[in-house]
Amino acid sequence: MNTQPIGVFDSGLGGLSVVCHLRRLLPQERIVYFGDTARVPYGIKSRPTVVNFALEAARFLLQFEPKLIVAACNTASALAIDDLRRGLSLPVVDVVEPGAQAAVRLAGGGGVAILGTEATIASCSYPAAIRVLAPELEVISRACPLFVPLVEEGRGCDDPIVKLTVETYLASLRGRGIRVAVLGCTHYPLLRAAIAAVLGPDVHIVESGRETSLAVQRVLTDAGSLCPAGRKGSMRCYVSDNPDRFRGIGSRFLDEQLEHVEFVPPEGYIASPLVQGEGR
Ligand code: DGL
Repeated sequence: MNTQPIGVFDSGLGGLSVVCHLRRLLPQERIVYFGDTARVPYGIKSRPTVVNFALEAARFLLQFEPKLIVAACNTASALAIDDLRRGLSLPVVDVVEPGAQAAVRLAGGGGVAILGTEATIASCSYPAAIRVLAPELEVISRACPLFVPLVEEGRGCDDPIVKLTVETYLASLRGRGIRVAVLGCTHYPLLRAAIAAVLGPDVHIVESGRETSLAVQRVLTDAGSLCPAGRKGSMRCYVSDNPDRFRGIGSRFLDEQLEHVEFVPPEGYIASPLVQGEGR
């Protein structure tokens, strides 16, 4: 048993879609979340920048002495997981590997579509993780950069602009033998119904956040580090900009209101120049 918190970080508020599953599955745990709202989006940035930001976010969380860190941001997981694991001496759970495992489990030999930010798709991390498990599977990747701003604007699945955008990005996947689509970005679960409508009823939708919460449960169970069931968990959020916007939009990602959201000034998370250079 270990009552230290679980640390979770994301480029902004999208990681709350992972926290939503963690809170449902492990309600007894304490969660400390860092959202780098001052520097979002990560999904259009270069690898060195994302590695640097991810290391800074994770190091910010270390002050809370977490028992495990979740890289809830798909872009950070795709580009920075090796650097995070090398740089930290505690378990780091990513979102790519659990999502890839679920895709292989559900594909039944059919094709897999990976949907993500430009940086996640360019990294080829999801296809690489799938290739290790099932080299024969066909994987088709699609960057869907407009999905994140649409979700942040509060547009839902019935919105005509959302429908048109989803159709534009994904219509060409129809008729390609796709059996599974991986929502490889924190925001995409909020567009799940619109994505499913375009891909059709035979395509399984994988939410990396759900699979990740199961991976966290496995890691903590194996280490004997779960909090005892029945204990009341908690959630504290720290953001690098605009806590009011985070509180307002963030609640759409969760089944609960965000109560504790605190602003962190740059000196609280931006490392010294020496440390900044480490990830390059
Ligand atoms: N959190 C990012 C991801 O899952 C999406 C937003 C961003 O581009 O930073 O890839």
